[in-house]
Amino acid sequence: MRSPVLAPSILSADFTRLGEDIAACQAGGADWMHVDVMDGHFVPNMTLGPLIVEACRRATSLPLDVHLMIEKPENMLEAFAKAGADRLTVHVETCPHLHRTIQQIQALGVKAGVTLNPATPAIMLKEILPLVDLVLVMTVNPGFGGQNFIVETLPKIVEIRQALDAIGSNAWLEVDGGVSEKTLPALMKAGVDAFVAGNAVFKHPNGIHAGIKTLRAVLADNL
Ligand code: DX5
Ligand code: ZN
Repeated sequence: MRSPVLAPSILSADFTRLGEDIAACQAGGADWMHVDVMDGHFVPNMTLGPLIVEACRRATSLPLDVHLMIEKPENMLEAFAKAGADRLTVHVETCPHLHRTIQQIQALGVKAGVTLNPATPAIMLKEILPLVDLVLVMTVNPGFGGQNFIVETLPKIVEIRQALDAIGSNAWLEVDGGVSEKTLPALMKAGVDAFVAGNAVFKHPNGIHAGIKTLRAVLADNL
């Protein structure tokens, strides 16, 4: 297994000092920055658009892992790619023409990810799996940081790991929601290799560096 990727989610950052928080993540050893885009329709919260992604792009040289929790994501792909996204992940629940959407993302020169909500079964990915660069399993219902990990998602993660291995896919298997030092070991055992973490990084009582260091230690212990 390749070395695990840690992707702090800026949703839990202090937006009055977003550049500094992102720089602290990079200096602390983050691998990617995860950026949550919400439209108030697909999920019951609104966050940010290409303008902020472009600002993140100027704040870091790390890959920007952009998670689109929006309806009709196909209309916004080019704007996010131009803003500097390195990965664009769309929800199967928002994409009736998922195959086309994945092709559109890759044609923009960006890695294409697909994600599914906790109640959406792994089988929804079957036909698209060979084409994607990343699979993101939501381990909370999307919309907010700081929610509890939904343990019932673990068998689905194992199922997707097996499906990726069976077709010889190199796609990252990423999880998002409730990732912490407590939930990491089970997630690693299930075959996850990329971890989004919001509160565990930005709300650590001793700061961002301590948050990253704590998670990295658990990742190293469970390799
Ligand atoms: C939730 C977002 C997550 C969120 C995770 O809808 O997609 O990326 O920031 O936050 P934590 O790690 O605090 O659960
Ligand atoms: Zn996310």
